[in-house]
Amino acid sequence: MTDGTPLPNRSSRIAGFHKKSPRERLDLVASFADLAPDVVERLSDFGNLPPDLGDRLIENVVSTMNIPIGVATNMKVDGEDVLVPMATEESSVVAAVCNAARQNYDTGFATSVSGNLMIAQVQAVGISDPHAARIRILERRSEIQAICDGCDPVLVRLGGGFRDLEVRVLDTLGGPMVVTHLIVDTRDAMGANAVNTMAETIAPHVARWSGGRVYLRILSNLADRRLARAHAVWRTAEIGGPEVRDGILSAYHFAEADPYRAATHNKGIMNGISAVVLATGNDTRAIEAGAHAYAARSGRYTSLTRYETTAEGDLSASIELPLAVGLVGGATKLHPTAQACLKILGVPTAERLARIIAAVGLAQNFSALKALATTGIQKGHMALHAQNIAMMAGAVGDEIETVARTLVERGTVRVDVAEKVLQDLRKS
Ligand code: MEV
Repeated sequence: MTDGTPLPNRSSRIAGFHKKSPRERLDLVASFADLAPDVVERLSDFGNLPPDLGDRLIENVVSTMNIPIGVATNMKVDGEDVLVPMATEESSVVAAVCNAARQNYDTGFATSVSGNLMIAQVQAVGISDPHAARIRILERRSEIQAICDGCDPVLVRLGGGFRDLEVRVLDTLGGPMVVTHLIVDTRDAMGANAVNTMAETIAPHVARWSGGRVYLRILSNLADRRLARAHAVWRTAEIGGPEVRDGILSAYHFAEADPYRAATHNKGIMNGISAVVLATGNDTRAIEAGAHAYAARSGRYTSLTRYETTAEGDLSASIELPLAVGLVGGATKLHPTAQACLKILGVPTAERLARIIAAVGLAQNFSALKALATTGIQKGHMALHAQNIAMMAGAVGDEIETVARTLVERGTVRVDVAEKVLQDLRKS
């Protein structure tokens, strides 16, 4: 039964959807989902991303998802002060970096990288003599180099290009597989496009040399030849004494030993890392896949950071993980906000960006472990969380702060309580 108003169109088969403008698509979606006019108006505001550009970055665009960018202060990386833009929806993440960096501002973070090398994989199957095929491919090194470098003369002009060749014979469920790794210096690019093109171009040759059939030709996100590292010392006297230091060390020992804890420990690290990766228009999923695969490289998933005690009894912390980030290509180059964030960071190379990101990951982890080993995470979290809850309860303007403060004072940060506090506030 209906009241006579036409029912919204509920078919997901929308002919020519991809050819329409973002606004036309949004209207169709609004009709499908019965969105209120004020919701549609809000969605149609693309914020700081020009709609034409948004429409070209991905498919079937209707709107944007605005995530706040906070700037982490106090960071000193390799002796240089940096302000770090971080895009995240999670409260306490930016504050955690600021706090960690404040506590070691004098010495800051020392960083390094292993290089800008990306790996592309070419999978060949159905080979009767896989070990000999491996040798046949390795014999073609200079030919492979010429073909790969021929794919991207600009990269070669910039000092990048093919660097090395690796061929592995894998024992798989489907029989032996010959996997060729092209190792390519991608300079200031993340490098996915460059190495994927090389892998696709080399593939028919690999099929011929191996006598097999080639299927996959794609980069590996386990970019273990593109590692970024950071190291920092927090003086025991500055962080609350030996008990705090030992609590942090014990938290690290826990993560090192237990994958259940390591997953959460590393998630905290990625809170910081992914926020900078996103703010700079880089690929958060690539970085996360690489980080977690690297954390499991020994066959047992473990912590991405390490904590030790210096000879002086201070806390020595370090991090190492793959960080395939770029300054050129894709959203990094096109998104005006990503460009502005890169300008704030003042990074001249992708290498420098990776080094800062590694330092942010370490700072984030230090703060999380310190909070967890002392007061617990909720105390710091609750002040901002309470504001979110106040807004969810309908508080606006000055009400947000008042309701949030009352929730924290009462020690009950819940929407139902916030609604009651708001009601009382409006009555008074
Ligand atoms: C929350 O987003 C991150 C933490 O859980 C990290 C950690 O436990 O180390 C606090």
